[in-house]
Amino acid sequence: MMKRILITGGAEAIQSKMKFKKKILCIGAGYVGGPSMAMIAYKCPDYRVTVVDVNPDRIDAWNSAQLPVYEPGLDKIVKKTRGKNLFFTKDIENQIKENDIIFVSVNTPIKTYGAGADMAADLQYWEKTARQILKHSRSSKIVIEKSTLPVKTALAMGKILASAKGKIKFEILSNPEFMAEGTAISDLENPDRVLIGSYETKSGLKARAELIEIYARWIPPEKIITSNIWSSELSKLVANAFLAQRVSSINSISALCEKTDADISEVARAVGMDNRIGDKFLNAGIGFGGSCFKKDMLNLVYLCSYYGLQEVAAYWKSVVNINEYQQERFIANILDRMFGTLAGKKICILGFAFKANTSDTRESPAIYISQKLLAEQAQVIISDPKALKNAAMDLSGIKGNVKYIEDPYRAAAGCHALVILTDWDLYQKLDFQKIYSAMVKPAFLFDGRNIIDHKKCFAIGFNVYPIGKPALSHFKN
Ligand code: UDX
Ligand code: UDX
Repeated sequence: MMKRILITGGAEAIQSKMKFKKKILCIGAGYVGGPSMAMIAYKCPDYRVTVVDVNPDRIDAWNSAQLPVYEPGLDKIVKKTRGKNLFFTKDIENQIKENDIIFVSVNTPIKTYGAGADMAADLQYWEKTARQILKHSRSSKIVIEKSTLPVKTALAMGKILASAKGKIKFEILSNPEFMAEGTAISDLENPDRVLIGSYETKSGLKARAELIEIYARWIPPEKIITSNIWSSELSKLVANAFLAQRVSSINSISALCEKTDADISEVARAVGMDNRIGDKFLNAGIGFGGSCFKKDMLNLVYLCSYYGLQEVAAYWKSVVNINEYQQERFIANILDRMFGTLAGKKICILGFAFKANTSDTRESPAIYISQKLLAEQAQVIISDPKALKNAAMDLSGIKGNVKYIEDPYRAAAGCHALVILTDWDLYQKLDFQKIYSAMVKPAFLFDGRNIIDHKKCFAIGFNVYPIGKPALSHFKN
C-alpha cells in the first residue's frame, strides 16, 4: 500500500469562512479536471476552486504527496494552491449547493452496449451528474461542459436541468479543454485559444461573460474566442480529428517509404516546411494512443452516420483504420525480421505510456503490441520511467510471460530485441553499446518512434528497423 499524507482535515472548514470573489466547482478530478482547476486556482488566488469526484481514492490521492496523474509542473502549482484556494473533497452534495459556477469534467467513454456500441459516447455519467446538480441545487447556476462531448449534449443537459422548480435557472456553456497530456501545464498557462460556446440569449451571453472574466485573468483577450454552443462542441471533436488525421496521413506514407527508398523524416521535413501545412504532428510512429483521439474519431463517425452522411463517416473512419493498420504492420515486421518466430525469445519494450511525459497508458499502442508479442509466446520485459503501474493493470489477466523492470539496462540484458514504443527523451541518451553488449546476438532494434540514432546503433552491431526508413541490417539479404 502506498503511504499517503492527507492534508485536508480542517481545510474544508476554513475555506467556507473565507471571503472569495468567485466560487467555482469542478465535478470530475481526472486528467482534465485536476490540472485545469489547479491552473484557475493558481492564476486567480481570490477565487475558491473546489474539485469533487465520485471516486474517493482519487480525492485522497489529490490530497496526498503523490498526485494521481503525472504531469510535469503540476506538483508545483498544486503545492502552491492546495488548502489555500484549491480544495479536493468528497462532499459533492454540499459543494453543488455552495457553488454557482460548476465545471463538469467527468469521463465520456465509448459505449460498450446497445445502440451505437463501440462508436457513440456513453453519456450515462454526464446524465447522472446533471441529475445530481438538479437534485442538490438551491440557487441558479452556470454549468460548464469541460469534457469532450457529442454535438447537442447541451440540449439533453438543458432538458434535464429545465425541470428545476421555482426560480432556479441553469445556464449551460461549452468550454472544451484543448490541453494535451505531458504538456498540460504549459498548454493551460499559454493556450492557443480558449473557446467558450453559449446560447445566444441574454442570459447565455451573461453567463459567457462570467466565464470570460475568469480566463481573462491570464489569457490575452484575442485568444478567448466565443461561438454558439453547437460550434463549440463540434470544434473540439474536429480539432482532435484533424490532429489524428495528420498522424494517420504520415503513418500511411511511412508504409510507402518502406517499399520505396524514401525516408519518412526527410519527406515530413520537406512537406512540413510548407507553411500552409506546418511541421507539427508529422512524426511517423506506431500510431496514436491516448484517451481522446480514437474515442472522438469514433464519435464523429457515429454522428455523421446518424445524420445519414455515410461518405463522411467512412472518410473519418479510415483515420482509425490506418492507425490499427500501422500497429499490425509493426508487429508483422518484428515477426518477419526475427525469422518468423518469437516463441521463447526475450523482447524488451522501452516505453509503455501512450506518449512521453505522462504515466497515462489509455489506448496506448503498447497494450496491443505487448498482447500480440505475448500471443506469439515471446517473453516480454517492459520498461518505462512512469507508466509501469498502469502497464501492469492493462496487462493483468493476459496470459504469458511478462516482467516489469524500470531500469532500461537491466530490462534489456539477455534480450533478443529492443522495441521502442514511447518517445521518452531518456531513450535517446541511453548507452547503446552497453545495452548491446548484454544482449543475445544477433541483436534486433525496432524503433517505433524514430527517436534514436539508427546509424550509430547499426555501427555498434544492432540490426535496426525504423519506421518509414530503410532497414539497417547486417544480414546478407
Ligand atoms: C475524460 C475524457 O477522456 C475526456 O475526453 C473528457 O473531455 C473528460 O473526461 P479525463 O479527465 O482524462 O478526461 O478522464 P478521467 O481521468 O477518467 O476523469 C474523469 C473523472 O470523473 C474520474 O475521476 C471519475 O471518477 C469522475 N466521475 C465520473 C465523477 O466524478 N462522476 C461521475 O459520475 C463519473
Ligand atoms: C490530444 C490533443 O492534442 C489535445 O488537444 C486534446 O485536448 C486531447 O487529445 P493527447 O491525447 O494528450 O492530446 O496527446 P497528443 O500530443 O495529441 O498525442 C496523441 C497521440 O498521437 C500520442 O499517442 C502521440 O504519440 C501520437 N502522435 C502525436 C504521433 O504519433 N505523431 C505525432 O506527430 C504527434
